[in-house]
Amino acid sequence: MDRLDEIRQACLSCRECPLCRERTNVVFGTGDPTSELMFIGEGPGENEDLQGEPFVGAAGKLLDDMLEMIDLERSRVYIANVVKCRPPRNRDPLNEEQKACRHWLDSQLAVIRPKLIVCLGRIAAAAVIKPDFKITREHGVWFNAAGARAMAMYHPAALLRDVSKRPETFVDLRALRAEAKRVCQRLY
Ligand code: URA
Repeated sequence: MDRLDEIRQACLSCRECPLCRERTNVVFGTGDPTSELMFIGEGPGENEDLQGEPFVGAAGKLLDDMLEMIDLERSRVYIANVVKCRPPRNRDPLNEEQKACRHWLDSQLAVIRPKLIVCLGRIAAAAVIKPDFKITREHGVWFNAAGARAMAMYHPAALLRDVSKRPETFVDLRALRAEAKRVCQRLY
């Protein structure tokens, strides 16, 4: 068993915060653990909880479309969340829940060591890039975080609710492709 599998196995029996009580499945992460590009969302929703995989609902379908726009597919990147268990009624994960869960994400980052990180939405950007992240002003801007170049985009669920944000996301996706061509050896 490789290191990421060991971490996953340990995570699957995690009971370090109250979210464990109502989960159906832990949603650890999916994709290519050797990828140079990692996407980080905030936490599982209903479909993810039921299937044990990140971004498998409507937002996930849109994420797949976004990846396709820059000639990628989910099997070529790694996708994880800040919290691994579904918050009730899809509320934002509480600070205590994020803190309790943080070491799992840090372990994933330590093993995968992505060159680029894309945070999906404000919660992930605040957790990974900086606590006072302003998604409307700072999406598409590159930062250094977790040993990588990191940027945030609008969360796909926000793009489903508000299509007027989509053109800006298209610009961000192009910036992602340009940065990937610049710093990654194996994506393009
Ligand atoms: N939203 C997230 O942030 N993560 C998922 O896995 C699904 C929806």
